[in-house]
Amino acid sequence: MIMLTRSVRMPDLEDKAVAVNAAPIHAAAICRLISHWAERGLTIQRGLRQIVTSIDQFVVAIHRGRVVGCGALELVSDQIGEIRSIAVCEQASRIGAGRAVMDALIAKAHARGLSELVLLTKTPDFFARFGFETVAPVELPFEYVAMIAQQPGRTLEGKIAMRRVLACTEAGCVTSAAHAS
Ligand SMILES: CC(C)(COP(=O)(O)OP(=O)(O)OC[C@H]1O[C@@H](n2cnc3c(N)ncnc32)[C@H](O)[C@@H]1OP(=O)(O)O)[C@@H](O)C(=O)NCCC(=O)NCCS
Repeated sequence: MIMLTRSVRMPDLEDKAVAVNAAPIHAAAICRLISHWAERGLTIQRGLRQIVTSIDQFVVAIHRGRVVGCGALELVSDQIGEIRSIAVCEQASRIGAGRAVMDALIAKAHARGLSELVLLTKTPDFFARFGFETVAPVELPFEYVAMIAQQPGRTLEGKIAMRRVLACTEAGCVTSAAHAS
């Protein structure tokens, strides 16, 4: 008897990108990812030395042993954090690397007891999936606006400002946005 078998594509658990805290060894790959999108106007260029010295802010997404995505959580104050330098390699887009990075950074923010996250972006629809809401620049915390003004090459112009409130209760940290991940 001849058995006809059809090849069925099973979901491959190893095919999912996972996020981990970045280590100095990841700095060069992070630099390349950020530079790629900075040349296209979507991220702000960051030098290798600057990345190495702030490596604790970064998480990386790993897929099949390669760094395919990155992002950073920078403290603005003891309550506010900025999500920045989110970048995913084009060849690895839409496989969950961006989500893995965002989930890890939001978990980091919760772990540090932050009450608010802010960011500037040209891709607001991506961040809306993580509970961020668009706000007018005047609604941004003054510490954040002051921080941006002090950082070379950074401006609010041409960017969409977004924020997400993180509230902590005795039961743990929850988000104010019902649709957040
Ligand atoms: C935006 C970006 C981070 C998305 O990364 P990604 O790994 O492809 O995203 P994921 O596969 O994890 O997708 C997560 C969710 O976001 C959605 N999404 C992905 N890219 C999106 C985009 N550009 N706009 C809106 N939604 C987007 C996906 O459909 C998915 O939604 P779902 O979970 O409901 O299906 C990536 O395309 C990138 O690096 N873009 C250039 C740099 C940039 O714009 N960075 C942000 C500014 S700092």
